[in-house]
Amino acid sequence: MRGSLFSHQKRSGAAPAVNLPRGLRKGEAIIMKFGIRTLDEVNVSGKTVLCRIDINQPVDMETGTLKSTTRIQACVPTIRELSDKGAKVVLMAHQGSDIEYQNFYTTEPHSKVLSELLGKEVQFIPDVCGPAAIEKIKSLKDGEILLLDNVRFMSEEQTLFEKKLRLTHEEMAKTIVVRKLAPLGDLYLNDAFAAAHRDQPTLSGFEQVLPSMMGRLFEKEYVVLSELMEAPARPCTFVLGGAKIADAFLMMESVLSAGAADHILAGGVVANILLIAKGEQIGQGSYDFIVKSNYEEFFEKAKVLLEKYADKIVLPVDLAWTEGDVRKEAKIGEIPAEIGSTDIGEETAKMYQKYILESKTVFVNGPMGIFEAELTELGTKMVWDALGDTEAFTVVGGGDSITATTKYGKTDKISYICTGGGALIRFLTGEELPVVKALRHGSQIPIKD
Ligand code: 3PG
Repeated sequence: MRGSLFSHQKRSGAAPAVNLPRGLRKGEAIIMKFGIRTLDEVNVSGKTVLCRIDINQPVDMETGTLKSTTRIQACVPTIRELSDKGAKVVLMAHQGSDIEYQNFYTTEPHSKVLSELLGKEVQFIPDVCGPAAIEKIKSLKDGEILLLDNVRFMSEEQTLFEKKLRLTHEEMAKTIVVRKLAPLGDLYLNDAFAAAHRDQPTLSGFEQVLPSMMGRLFEKEYVVLSELMEAPARPCTFVLGGAKIADAFLMMESVLSAGAADHILAGGVVANILLIAKGEQIGQGSYDFIVKSNYEEFFEKAKVLLEKYADKIVLPVDLAWTEGDVRKEAKIGEIPAEIGSTDIGEETAKMYQKYILESKTVFVNGPMGIFEAELTELGTKMVWDALGDTEAFTVVGGGDSITATTKYGKTDKISYICTGGGALIRFLTGEELPVVKALRHGSQIPIKD
């Protein structure tokens, strides 16, 4: 089986059929089934299109370069189509957040990568909605592309990020970014499926005031995943790792309570929280990391889940850590008191491989440990090997998981690679994503000629 990143491939009869109403053009069929306009339904020529994309990538803060460009590549078809059709294209995007300052950065490097990928200049302005950005947008000619700076440099966008402040979508239309930029746009397009679970002004505010549509990437992700979730083949296994704990617990709670998961295979920090909640001693370093990251609140949630779904949640039977340049492993129950684990152990990885090989559908979000380092990549590598070998329909989502897929040469072997991590998780919970709700609203606003 051959394929490219972000392709949707059918394997072993387990793949979803894309089941749109018949006898209609594709765009009409999609709007009828999902209530969201696509680019097929809109004439963008000569129009100013405000586009929210997700090009959030890991950044090397010392050199100011991007460590990966996969999400940027995934946005290219929409941007190219808009520009080729003569739209004035204004791109809005975030890069990292102040929750993890490691990747909180300007979007300037992204404009250079986009220019190279498109073979056409993507202008950049270090402003989001101030006078400089407004003047620049007004001066754009048909086909020209402008990328604004990181929208999360504005406090309005940031305070609505995982914080207590909540605005309704109507209230978001009153935020400064929407009030300043919406009058300059004829249309709003959202291609940021990877951020569709976030409720922020640039994601859900413009749809209140501008005729809206989804871009090609959003269309593909949303339609494929919707069809897949209608009836995933069983057994259905979820592999959950990484460090975005709120996302992982939300996913566990909802897929278990909905009866959608036959097995949850836990790795990374998620597994450590579950093990501690179960009363296992897994080393002071592992515990300290959880406390330092303010994840203690999840111990209680973990206990509840373990009590209710003991037969579905599969936990590591051994863990790994490093001492100098040596990898060490020990069974649960024999872990040295002071260590901080950085990977699942080999026995666990073998056990997880067996589950994956025996499943019919597998969703993966997050690596099993620090897979960037040679000594602690074994667990992630072995899990990805099994993902490559299984006959199951495999869905991998999120930045780190995509990076692991590329690193282990499995791009052609995974059935569907989704740009979204958190968004995929929220989507699988069956909840309507905030951006989907907003796009449905914006798709009802008539387009003026
Ligand atoms: C992601 O990286 O999952 C998306 O870009 C959303 O980013 P966020 O988790 O910082 O909102």
